[in-house]
This record gives sequence, structure tokens and C-alpha cells, in this order.
Amino acid sequence: MKGIVLAGGAGTRLHPATLAVNKQLLPVYDKPMIYYPLSVLLLAGIREILLISSPESMESYRRLLGTGEAYGIELSYAEQPRPEGIAQAFVIGRDFIGGDCAALVLGDNIFFSANLREQLRAIVERRRGATIFAYHVDQPERYGVVEIGSADEVVDIVEKPKSPRSNWAVTGLYFYDNQVLDIAAGLRPSARGELEITDVNKAYLARGQLTVERLGRGAAWLDTGTHDSLLEAGEFVRTLQRRQGLAIACLEEIAFQNGFIDLAALEARGRMFEKTAYGAYLLRLARGGGDS
Ligand code: G1P
Repeated sequence: MKGIVLAGGAGTRLHPATLAVNKQLLPVYDKPMIYYPLSVLLLAGIREILLISSPESMESYRRLLGTGEAYGIELSYAEQPRPEGIAQAFVIGRDFIGGDCAALVLGDNIFFSANLREQLRAIVERRRGATIFAYHVDQPERYGVVEIGSADEVVDIVEKPKSPRSNWAVTGLYFYDNQVLDIAAGLRPSARGELEITDVNKAYLARGQLTVERLGRGAAWLDTGTHDSLLEAGEFVRTLQRRQGLAIACLEEIAFQNGFIDLAALEARGRMFEKTAYGAYLLRLARGGGDS
């Protein structure tokens, strides 16, 4: 299974903060936003990851994440010249995916759930069809909306409906088998000029191969699209981390738990950031044998 993080978009709703910096590089409390979606792929156990972003942001991402060695992953990069839709990730990432399955996560999506690792691992094992995640929201009309039947089957999926048939928003985390490459290659731009991920999901639905997983009450799926929601997401992370003394989306910690990096590498990263709480956390983990 390969992983793609799509960190595109112009971030116009966050201007002027995003005039000179790609949105997904902005901090969510103590770490860059991109750490959060990356952590989801790591939790799923995925090691080969492609980061797609705008040409002007490429250098910043390379400086931040490098080859991925610090997290025991293989990170590669590809440019999305213009933001022409989420499904374009599978046109750009075609060679990278090759004959494999693929997970896609949007660079501005923040997930938090106690049993996320277990839930994701079960989906990675599935290897057939497509899986999307639904989250109950107050304003579903802002998202792709999925109607779920009594046997937990997908009845329909509609992009930003005026009259939503449910409160279940489709989150920006998707798992596909290899059919996604041909489905994406055959898409035509929507009325808003984008290759819609919802159209990919509808193609799987038409084939009877779309599964929906609910992210339940204990989970958080946070928005970062506006100044207020970005700040609220940061406050959420800060509150939980300070109360529990456990980090959210600490890439080195997840990498260590996965066996992607060893204790010495964990400690080295801690020393690199030793002036920060993030570094102290890594050092504490390393000295406790990585137990958290
Ligand atoms: C996109 C998808 C939408 C999904 C959302 C999740 O919306 O088209 O189905 O619910 O991401 O973040 P967009 O960000 O393009 O408005």
C-alpha cells in the first residue's frame, strides 16, 4: 500500500497568512499542519509516501521532511502545477502507485481518534474496492455528504449538496485499490473545473465496491480552512497534549512504535529539538524505552 498526501490549494481563505507560505506548512499549535495527515498514513503502517504540492512550496517541504529518513519512511515529491482537483493526485501519482493499492489524505485534514491505528490497519488489510470515512458534522453542506443505509451500506454520495440527506461528511482520507488509477484517468472536470474525488467514489459505488467507515463520537475531524477553525484546531491539540502529556501526530513516536526507527534515532531527534517541548517529549520517550 502506497500513501499520498495532497498539500495543494491556494489557501485563499487564509490570506494574508498564506500569501507566502503554503497552507499546510502553517502551524497547528506546536507542529506544521502537514504532520497531522502524515501521522495518519504512518499509523496505517504505510512507508512509501508521495507528497504532492505546488511548485513554489516544494523546496519548503523538502527542507522540512527531507527523504523521510527521520521517520523511517521513503518520501518522494511531485508537483501539482495548478490545483485542479483532489482526484488529480491519482493522475500525478500514477507511476508512484504502479500496481499497488493507495491511501490518500488531504494535507489540511486533522484526525484524532483513540483507536485510529486499529481501524486503519483493518482497512489496509482489505485491499479491495474503496473505503471512505464519514464524520457527523453540524454543517454537512460544506462537504461531500454520504447517505448511509440500515446495513451500513453507502446509498449515495453527493458533493456539497444544498439539501443534505444526512449529517455524515466525507472526510479527506480515502483508501483505494488499483482501479483508482484508471477511474481517475477517465474523469472529466466538474462544473467548478476540478477532478472530483466524489466522482471517483461514485464510480466505486456504481461497482458495488464502496465501503464507509464511521468515525464515531470519540473522534475528532477538524477543519483548518479559516483563521478561526485553524486556531480552534490548535487549541484542541494543545488542550489534549497538555492534559495528557501525550503528543498528537508526533511522527517520530509513531515511527518508533511501528518499528520504522530505532531508539537511537528517536533520541537523536529529541536532541535536535531539545529546546522545545516536542524535543523533551521525544527524549522522555527514548529514555523510558519509548513507552507511552
Ligand atoms: C473536498 C472534497 C469533499 C470533502 C472535503 C474534505 O472538499 O471535495 O468531498 O468532504 O474535501 O475536507 P474541498 O476541500 O475541495 O471543498
